[in-house]
Amino acid sequence: MGPPLKGREIEVTTGTFAYRVLIEEDLLAETGRLLRLALPPGRALLISDHNVFSRYGNAVLQSLAAEKWQVKTALIKPGEGSKTVTGAKRLYEACIDAGLDRTSPVIALGGGVIGDLAGFVAATFMRGVPLIMLPTSLLAQVDSSVGGKVAVNHPRGKNMIGAIYPPRLVLIDPLVLKTLNNRQFRAGAAEVIKYGIIEDETFFTRLEEKSDRLLARDSGFLAEAVAASVRSKARVVEKDEYEQDYRRILNFGHTIGHALEAATAYRYYLHGEAVLVGMVLAVKLAQKLSCLDAGTAGRINSLLGRLRMKKPPQGLTAGKVIDKLEHDKKRLRGDLIFVLPDRIGSAMMVPVKDMEMIAGVIETYLEPGG
Ligand SMILES: NC(=O)c1ccc[n+]([C@@H]2O[C@H](COP(=O)([O-])OP(=O)(O)OC[C@H]3O[C@@H](n4cnc5c(N)ncnc54)[C@H](O)[C@@H]3O)[C@@H](O)[C@H]2O)c1
Ligand SMILES: [Zn+2]
Repeated sequence: MGPPLKGREIEVTTGTFAYRVLIEEDLLAETGRLLRLALPPGRALLISDHNVFSRYGNAVLQSLAAEKWQVKTALIKPGEGSKTVTGAKRLYEACIDAGLDRTSPVIALGGGVIGDLAGFVAATFMRGVPLIMLPTSLLAQVDSSVGGKVAVNHPRGKNMIGAIYPPRLVLIDPLVLKTLNNRQFRAGAAEVIKYGIIEDETFFTRLEEKSDRLLARDSGFLAEAVAASVRSKARVVEKDEYEQDYRRILNFGHTIGHALEAATAYRYYLHGEAVLVGMVLAVKLAQKLSCLDAGTAGRINSLLGRLRMKKPPQGLTAGKVIDKLEHDKKRLRGDLIFVLPDRIGSAMMVPVKDMEMIAGVIETYLEPGG
């Protein structure tokens, strides 16, 4: 698949084909050359948002032009509000205007919103054109750009319309994380720590030692942490691309996390902020159910504590969060399944029936000491 890189390289094997994830500083300036290794140059559509394009768009466009790619650009308004069927429809127009055929790539430059939306367009335009991911938020670099899930929102449900559609190539430049705002960075860092807890003990220990460097966005360590996270996600996804079972361990912290997001109408928490609370509460639940010893719980809590949980909003009650969980329960037609760590680097799926126990754990967050 072409010459090796100086930086880190991870191959992800899916049911349909394998793709490479390359992680290296200044990689965006190599987009044109690296894309050529995967596809013959021709037309392409670059999809980005204003925040990201104003910073990194030119570097990417120049590198593509230098390798004879003929690129049109489509920009969307930053934020979740653009991830809709209407947004996708506008982008289909842009695909047609750019003269794409079935071999022309759609290039997604941005955070998870751009990756999901551009990915959805790539999956469906002409029954699928090559998708190239240039993820720029920490969440997109360690989570949404790998694994092949693409989607848009429906007014009645987040990510309701989508597909599993793996990218052809993922280029990750950790340097771009320097311009991410602090809140976004910390929210992404919650997902980074998640991989250490559920899947990779060595990485967890590195994070314990180097959490200062992670939070300071030390370049060398960022590249290492992003690579370890991608490797971890790739291992899980390779075992279970279509979310039969094992892939669900990635949902550690997400059962309560999603309920918190839904109970606050997706307006109060960033996804990673809600997941951080969800992980802390899942650890409490694991202890109550005697899945996890106090020493290990202490290690996990102290690493997660570095990120500082967001305080709950005024008026949020355990009842409102439980309502959202009950809704999930109905959807699953059975017990709520929690992903609970049983030691560092390992987690299991545990059905939990005792809603009072769950409510009690949620109370510890809503009314600490109360
Ligand atoms: N497909 C998956 O597997 C998967 C997994 C997790 C989340 N998601 C989806 O990802 C989305 C959230 O992604 P996100 O957190 O990246 O949000 P986002 O895409 O909205 O990006 C967050 C903000 O940061 C800005 N930004 C991005 N990169 C930047 C950079 N380098 N410098 C400065 N600003 C930058 C964006 O313009 C945006 O304003 C949600 O829609 C969620 O559903 C998908
Ligand atoms: Zn998540």
